[in-house]
Amino acid sequence: MSIDDCRVIELPKISDPRGNLTFIEGETHVPYDIKRVYYLYDVPGGAERGGHAHKNLHQLMIAMSGSFDVVLDDGKRRRSVHLNRSYLGLYVPTMIWRELNNFSSGAVCMVLASEKYDEADYYRDYDEFCEVVRDADSFS
Ligand code: TYD
Repeated sequence: MSIDDCRVIELPKISDPRGNLTFIEGETHVPYDIKRVYYLYDVPGGAERGGHAHKNLHQLMIAMSGSFDVVLDDGKRRRSVHLNRSYLGLYVPTMIWRELNNFSSGAVCMVLASEKYDEADYYRDYDEFCEVVRDADSFS
């Protein structure tokens, strides 16, 4: 998996003078069935979230309010994506290390995950993650 497999998905947006509406259907707008939704909010200035990769889980991150940056890292390259629209979702597949930072005041990050919470699915140590990526490369 590479950081090029991470992409911003433009979600349907029904524009209306009464207020806009966006909807997301599992397997239609995201390439998986949505099993869990969680959100980060009340993030203090300067705080960083994430700092892990997943073995099997993929997810879509949306800035429901405010903005933040997502740093994506596949063990070889890094890039950063700025999210600030509630109709844009960042799709992050398996085996991508991510860090979320630069949260604006009032930012809300909603995550649509392909799996229920399972601590065993996480790599929380960056060096270990890089080692697993290197080992996988040497077998391919
Ligand atoms: P973590 O995934 O490390 O948060 P983030 O990556 O957004 O910074 O989770 C923080 C804590 O919350 C950790 O103790 C696990 C717990 N948690 C759950 O119990 N269920 C969940 O669905 C999530 C995402 C986290």
